[in-house]
Amino acid sequence: MKKVKLSKLYILAASCVLLSSLLIYKLSYSQNTEQPKTQQNEQPVTDCFESREGYTSVTRVENVAPKHGFPNVKCSQTTGGVLWWGDAYDGTIPMGEMPICGDYTCGSYEKGEDAVVRPREPQLKYFNLNPEQHCAFCHNGKMVPFPKNKKPRLLAAHQDIVADSLQLMHGRAAFWCLDCHSATNRNRLIDHWGNEISFNQPQKLCGKCHGEVYIDWRMGIHGKRTGMWVKGGKKRWWVCTECHNPHTVQTNRFNPLKPEPAPALPKGMKNADHEQSEHGLHKEPSLSSAPANPSTGH
Ligand code: HEC
Ligand code: HEC
Ligand code: HEC
Ligand code: HEC
Repeated sequence: MKKVKLSKLYILAASCVLLSSLLIYKLSYSQNTEQPKTQQNEQPVTDCFESREGYTSVTRVENVAPKHGFPNVKCSQTTGGVLWWGDAYDGTIPMGEMPICGDYTCGSYEKGEDAVVRPREPQLKYFNLNPEQHCAFCHNGKMVPFPKNKKPRLLAAHQDIVADSLQLMHGRAAFWCLDCHSATNRNRLIDHWGNEISFNQPQKLCGKCHGEVYIDWRMGIHGKRTGMWVKGGKKRWWVCTECHNPHTVQTNRFNPLKPEPAPALPKGMKNADHEQSEHGLHKEPSLSSAPANPSTGH
């Protein structure tokens, strides 16, 4: 009898411990699940950037697609980088006709309306100093005379864009500003024959010298595209200058993006040391150690 009572007591005590630990577990768990809610209450970041910080800025606008109630973008709370697009084509324009596009790189995009880009002109500082004349506000041949030749010379302006115009950090001194910028219409870039190219189509400029990268880019191998997977489905191409600064590629091909912080650990875990002891610190290969040590839980 006594034995039975004792064991009953044990069971009672054990289940009490179990219950209370379950309760503690539940409590801490529910505390944990509340965390994302407080994060949601934080003001969402509205000044965001795409690809290159300081180059393609986007402002978060609520409810751009009233049907779904989505904002146009969702941005990282820590870096300000765009993580999600509500409308991937918001503010885009057709990529435009691609004269140097080889047959197989065109695919079914020949018509142009399915291939879109985000225009660069609204992002350019000097271009928008004057909303009508743009660069030509100063570069009209009078206020700033048209240069006589393409010989590199020290410039009295734009040091914020090109620190030393005698040492342009692109092309290892093989060319200068006026191999890319039109000498007489400063609102445009130029191809090898002097034909004008819009700032919104820098790929045509870059493609004249970087033909292989250009073809890769057109096919979606280099750079970045978003949109539909299907052949001919609408896609947005990130243009070259959304990732590369044409004035500094020699010192910095591409500005690495700041990584996002690691996600929160589950269930109130304080650290991820267990990962180290299981996978990192073991001397012997984990396959042979796993059956010998079942307590590791694998
Ligand atoms: C506020 C006036 C102003 C605006 C706006 C402006 N520039 Fe300039 N730019 C200058 C001056 C001044 C020079 C220097 C001329 C010199 O030192 O001989 C210059 C020089 C240049 C040069 C070197 C070749 C040359 O003509 O001497 C380039 C390339 C250039 N600018 C591009 C641009 C582009 C592209 C834009 C528009 C996106 C722009 N600029 C807008 C004032 C301006
Ligand atoms: C390899 C081609 C190339 C060369 C060489 C080049 N540029 Fe540019 N430049 C561009 C492109 C492309 C843009 C547009 C950048 C963008 O979309 O972000 C630009 C933009 C600019 C702007 C406008 C920036 C703004 O935010 O408004 C200025 C000013 C400028 N360049 C001046 C110069 C000067 C001065 C030189 C020579 C010392 C020069 N560039 C050489 C390709 C070039
Ligand atoms: C007039 C010809 C010309 C144009 C136009 C031109 N580039 Fe270049 N680019 C060069 C040359 C030459 C080099 C140096 C290659 C080397 O050092 O091997 C270079 C180097 C680069 C590099 C660094 C490559 C490396 O290996 O480090 C990048 C990135 C780049 N260009 C991007 C661009 C982009 C983006 C554009 C358009 C905005 C552009 N280029 C327009 C000729 C050009
Ligand atoms: C989405 C971003 C992105 C876009 C858009 C992009 N690039 Fe790049 N590109 C990169 C990255 C990242 C690298 C590798 C940089 C490194 O190695 O440090 C690179 C490397 C390069 C290089 C040097 C290496 C090589 O393969 O020769 C060139 C030249 C270049 N890009 C040109 C271009 C041109 C031209 C375009 C447009 C037709 C373009 N890129 C569009 C991100 C981009």
